[in-house]
Amino acid sequence: MSLTPENHSIPLVDGNRIPLIGLGTYGDPRTTAKGTAYESVKLAIDVGYRHFDGALVYFNEHEVGQAIREKIADGTVKREDIFYCGKLWNTFHPPELVRPALERTLKTLQLDYVDLYIIELPTAFKPGDIFYPKDENGKHIYGETDLCATWEALEACKDAGLTKSLGVSNFNRRQLELILKKPGLKHRPVSNQVECHPYFTQPKLLEYCRQNDIVIVGYSPLGTSRDSSWVNLKCPPLLEDSLLVSIANKYKKTSAQVALRFNVQRGVVVIPKSFSPQRIRQNFQIFDFSLTEDEMKAIERLNKNIRFVELLMWSDHPEYPFHDEY
Ligand SMILES: NC(=O)c1ccc[n+]([C@@H]2O[C@H](COP(=O)([O-])OP(=O)(O)OC[C@H]3O[C@@H](n4cnc5c(N)ncnc54)[C@H](OP(=O)(O)O)[C@@H]3O)[C@@H](O)[C@H]2O)c1
Repeated sequence: MSLTPENHSIPLVDGNRIPLIGLGTYGDPRTTAKGTAYESVKLAIDVGYRHFDGALVYFNEHEVGQAIREKIADGTVKREDIFYCGKLWNTFHPPELVRPALERTLKTLQLDYVDLYIIELPTAFKPGDIFYPKDENGKHIYGETDLCATWEALEACKDAGLTKSLGVSNFNRRQLELILKKPGLKHRPVSNQVECHPYFTQPKLLEYCRQNDIVIVGYSPLGTSRDSSWVNLKCPPLLEDSLLVSIANKYKKTSAQVALRFNVQRGVVVIPKSFSPQRIRQNFQIFDFSLTEDEMKAIERLNKNIRFVELLMWSDHPEYPFHDEY
């Protein structure tokens, strides 16, 4: 695959295209100053990013939407140049709550449609506006999960023009198959957003998805923010890896750029999060070098099969996706 700055997007099975790099917009709301996501998205558009990964539960979708709208209003981009991915949260899985949840995202963004809307997790929670429902003992309250019913409600949203494409996130092979084999399937999932980086390369899921025309969107492509409140810190810091650092030195790049290039070069979309102007710019500079086949193979061998994002607090959910091998 040859990638250039002009051509850094790949086709989706429904005829749309997805830019290979997007800006992740999750920042810890407790430590991120108001306006940070807004400034970051505006800068990212100036730098050349066209893809933004957001969610209602990131609590900054209004800032992301405002930045996109202002950049459209000032003529920097057109709406059709932007690719925004929003996510259906766990408390909105019942079919009758799906469209209102997407409409809430659109209202927050003040946009008419999103480009991709994905089921954030296959684990339904008790429906409603309490995003992390717990009982009096602090135990999570789950909801009945019927992924096919949720999917049908999403199909209706696409038909209504509220989203251009539909996808999933954190789905294992069995859960993907459930959708793909659903009787009367109208719209296929175009993508599965999962953790993916040199320490967690996802070889089997990637192969399965390739065979089924599902693009993998790799989250935490730099190895996360290493926030101990939700990240498995048994996995060492990715960007300090000696192989990534030595390859980076060879190309006068950083280990972050090598980690991102590795995924992009094998057709995995990356959505690195940065709210730092310098790193937002840096992470986009991955189209002016390429890794050799030997380097790609050597980086693949770094796979440790350990997740940074284990979501163990929900491991007793009947649809917890990570008990299966892939
Ligand atoms: N679907 C899901 O379940 C799910 C789960 C997790 C994440 N996501 C999505 O994926 C996005 C990215 O994942 P993530 O936020 O977990 O982790 P990530 O992108 O792997 O890493 C982000 C961390 O790396 C730092 N960073 C960024 N660029 C860097 C560079 N060039 N050199 C060194 N450090 C750098 C950032 O700090 P600064 O901001 O200070 O630069 C931040 O602390 C999220 O924002 C979200 O949109 C989705």
